[in-house]
Order: sequence, then C-alpha cells, then structure tokens
Amino acid sequence: MSLAANQTVDVLRAAGEPSRLRILALLAREELAVLELCKILDQSQPRVSRHLKLLADAGLVERFPDGAWVFYRLAAGGDARHLADDILARTDDQDPILARDYEQLQAVRAERASDADAYFARNAARWDEIRSLYVSEAAVEAAILEAVGPEPVRRLVDLGSGTGRMLTLLGPQASTSVGLDLSQQMLNIARTHVAEAGLAACELRHGDIFDTRLPEGSADLVVVHQVLHYLGDPATAVREAGRLVGQGGRLLIVDFAPHSLEFLREQHQHRRLGFTDAEMSRWLEETGLSGVSIDSLPSARKDGLTVKIWTARRGQMNKGTSR
Ligand SMILES: C[S@@+](CC[C@H](N)C(=O)[O-])C[C@H]1O[C@@H](n2cnc3c(N)ncnc32)[C@H](O)[C@@H]1O
Repeated sequence: MSLAANQTVDVLRAAGEPSRLRILALLAREELAVLELCKILDQSQPRVSRHLKLLADAGLVERFPDGAWVFYRLAAGGDARHLADDILARTDDQDPILARDYEQLQAVRAERASDADAYFARNAARWDEIRSLYVSEAAVEAAILEAVGPEPVRRLVDLGSGTGRMLTLLGPQASTSVGLDLSQQMLNIARTHVAEAGLAACELRHGDIFDTRLPEGSADLVVVHQVLHYLGDPATAVREAGRLVGQGGRLLIVDFAPHSLEFLREQHQHRRLGFTDAEMSRWLEETGLSGVSIDSLPSARKDGLTVKIWTARRGQMNKGTSR
C-alpha cells in the first residue's frame, strides 16, 4: 500500500512545520503526555494540542487517553509513519533547536526519575504491604507460578526486582537468578529477603531497565512484575526485556489492565493507568517474541484493579514445555 498523492501532500504539510517536526522528533524518542510536550516546547496547551491533532489526523501520531491524561506516540505503522521515519532519519539530530528539545526531554525524565526514586525510597520498607493493597497477592502469585509452569529455569532475570518477591517466588526453580533495580533501598531489602530464602545463586544489581547491560539472549525467563506503569517509555523497557530472552525462553509481564484510579498517579507515582492487551501484544511481538498468552485476574472489589499476566516466548516451544 502506498499513499495517494494528495495524502502524501497532507502528511508532508502536517510534518512540514517547525513545532510539529519537533514534536515528531520527540515522540520518536518516547511516548509523551501533552503537558510534558508543552513543557519541553515551552508552548501553551491549546497550541500543542492543535499541532497534535493535525499530526494525528495525518496518521503520523497516535493519541491514547490514559485516565485523566492523554499520551501521544508515533503511529505504530503505516505509510505516514514510514514517511515520518524517513524525514527524521534525514534531519540532523544535532540541530540546535532539536538538541535543546532533547535536553528538555532529559530534564523531564530526570524529574520523573527523581520523583519515582524518592517514592520508592520512602516506601521501600512498606512496599510488600502497599503492593497487597489492591488485589490478592496470593492469587497473583499462584497465577504466576502456573504461567511459569514446572519447566526448569537456567537463568531468571527479574527487572525492577523491588524487595525481591519475584526472586523468592521463582528463584527456587532457577539455577541462577539476577534481580535488577534502580533503587538502592529496594535492593538492600531484596538482599535480606533473598538471603533469608537461602537463594545462594541470586545476584542483585543496581541498574536501569532501559539499559540493563545484561547480555543479549542470556535468560530463559525474564520477569517484569508491576514495573511498567511507573515508566516513561514502557515500550522501550519491553524491548530491552525481550532482548534478554534467549531461544526458547520466555518473557512474563505482570501489570494492570486499563483502569481509572487516578489517585495511583497522584499519590503513588503511577504514570500509566494500565495497559491494553493490544499494545502489550504489539510490544512483545515487536521484540521478536510470539505466542502471547494472557491471564486476567480481576479484583473481588468492584472498584478494584485487574491484574494481567502477559507471557510470550522466543522461537519454538521445546517439547514438554507447554503449560
Ligand atoms: C512496584 S515496584 C515492583 C517491585 C517488584 N517487581 C515487585 O513486584 O515486588 C517497582 C520497582 O521498579 C523499580 N524501577 C522503577 N524504575 C526503574 C528502572 N528504570 N529500572 C529499574 N528498576 C526500576 C523501582 O525501584 C521499584 O523497585
């Protein structure tokens, strides 16, 4: 499929304006909320929203409401997106205006990270209590064990390992395991928990889920449990998690289904109010994983949260590995 000539003109018109090109360049780095774009571009919300509407109408960006916030990202595919990729590839990244925007983006990220870090530091000791506020942890953990199944795990990697609950849950069936977290306080608590559980072959590392520095294809089970909703760029985190999965290995992501509990954003540093099956499946498939399976664990409370477990595998399933 290609664009009709008049559609190409519409797409080029939408992209062919300084602020809109800047927006495209920023969204190529990560999905952003409207208010974040306003801050980076130093423009009013009505103005930025107008630009975004034109870009969305031309098929260059996608709008997705998430609770009371609205996020934008580059369109997942299509000719307009390919045209945007071409335009951006031919645009000098070092251009002073774009370079300043990237610096501002870095400042927005740093602000997010320091808020999140302060939150996790404040709540490290209470974390196990906080995480059981919303749904029955016992049910979630039973479902995780069921999803992982009895197949032995050579190397388990737990990204955003927090207090180490996933390591103590799944570590016993793994020959070696690594937990990685950005918060030193969380790592300290995890060290105690892992030692108490007698998991000798478990290493805890300080690191960033966006750039784990772990070798490609080095794990046969990667777990990302209740981490993605805090992140500015969950798609990139899924890509990095997927990169670590070796042939025949699996990636297991646990997070919430879309919800509207805005207080989690205001009081608990959540950035995304859950994820749809479609976006998660797309991210998993984009990282080369297949056979996505989805478990749903609704809360008993009417206003509660539904926990989702998305599992996908790299390559063929080994004999005897089916759940
Ligand atoms: C809600 S806790 C979940 C911890 C653990 N997976 C669990 O379920 O108990 C989220 C964890 O993600 C960590 N985290 C947040 N951003 C991160 C990043 N960019 N890289 C690594 N860890 C991160 C936080 O420090 C925190 O420990």
